[in-house]
Amino acid sequence: MIIRRLRLENFRNFADETFDFTDGINILAGNNAQGKTNCIEAIYFCSCLKSYRVLKEEQLIRFGAETAAITLTFLLEGREEELKILFARGRPKEFRHNGLVVPRLRDLLGCFQSVIFTPDHLNLIKEGPHKRRSFLDMALCSLELQYTDQLLSYQKILKNRNALLRQCQSDYALSEMLEIWDEKLAEAGSYIAEARQKYIMQLSAFVKEYYSEISQGSEKLKLIYLNQFTKEEVSREEYARLFRERLRRMRDHDITMGQTMSGIHKDDILILLSGKSMKFFASQGQIRSAVLAMKLAEAECITRLQGSEPVLLLDDILSELDAHRQKFIFQKMNGRQTVLTTCELGKIRKKGDKVFSIKEGKVAKIRVPASGSGCADQKK
Ligand SMILES: Nc1ncnc2c1ncn2[C@@H]1O[C@H](COP(=O)(O)OP(=O)(O)OP(=O)(O)O)[C@@H](O)[C@H]1O
Ligand SMILES: [Mg+2]
Repeated sequence: MIIRRLRLENFRNFADETFDFTDGINILAGNNAQGKTNCIEAIYFCSCLKSYRVLKEEQLIRFGAETAAITLTFLLEGREEELKILFARGRPKEFRHNGLVVPRLRDLLGCFQSVIFTPDHLNLIKEGPHKRRSFLDMALCSLELQYTDQLLSYQKILKNRNALLRQCQSDYALSEMLEIWDEKLAEAGSYIAEARQKYIMQLSAFVKEYYSEISQGSEKLKLIYLNQFTKEEVSREEYARLFRERLRRMRDHDITMGQTMSGIHKDDILILLSGKSMKFFASQGQIRSAVLAMKLAEAECITRLQGSEPVLLLDDILSELDAHRQKFIFQKMNGRQTVLTTCELGKIRKKGDKVFSIKEGKVAKIRVPASGSGCADQKK
């Protein structure tokens, strides 16, 4: 997957700007608050069809403007595709694929693939399980339409079951109706658990390989999908059975709490380094290496499962990594199209195949390498 062009119209602090990206490493350079992350946000929007920074999409429309648009032109298996997202205040966003309006969002999931890595991901290991579940869900939703459907359906069932649990607090007789929701929850939940388990097994193999390359040591990194019911790896049927059983056993407790206390919305990823949980025992350096390995493994998994390379988006991450880890990440880019941001070009400048200087929501300057002698300025 290769981005050819990105046009931002009234998106964040961009009035109307076009980026013609190159196949290799694209660097967005500039001082703080100039629009570098805004550009990354727009690209990643085209992958997960929502913003990873805000829930209220009106915030994406430029101050004072009524509408905004992101237009991404990219190559997929040699074909040129165009994805356009239109935003308007007070109206739902609209998607257009190759000029045609796409009414159902799900038809676009996985259409454009990218993997994002920001300093926020460095908290993936230490923070609560929610972060790790969302790491899994984001990847799986872009890979499998059915996963997205099952996840949405699970969330809906969970909401209904929780509403009924709260009604049961004042009318216990209603608790008989919970049976229907338990069945539906186990059905969708077991699908999701099995998909997450399979994905983690694939991911874990790459993570292990990358971690030992980065750390050049003998420590082994392993990821395990952690459910609340058993430590064993289980089939979908077995997960559903254990889940149903737990829901029945904990029914009164759930009623008291007014919410469902078991299920895939409580599951986690156990990250073990030489058999010990990293959450409790790892050093800062080990955590950085592990997250780096997980993010690069995510890109590799998408490549293998989807058959095309996702675009790598690195927002401000290089300044967080030491020279050795930076070297590793550049090695792994290995021909993969990358868009990275930085406040300090420094030595990174030489690595860029194209450097965009961003100033106040505009591309102030573009530099491309001149043969043999660093970068030459190009007129905008
Ligand atoms: N809807 C909007 N309309 C206009 N400007 C906006 C909007 N949303 C954000 N901005 C502006 O965008 C700028 C921030 O852009 P961005 O987050 O891309 O910065 P950055 O270049 O990544 O900076 P840093 O290096 O600090 O991360 C701020 O000046 C902010 O006021
Ligand atoms: Mg930024």
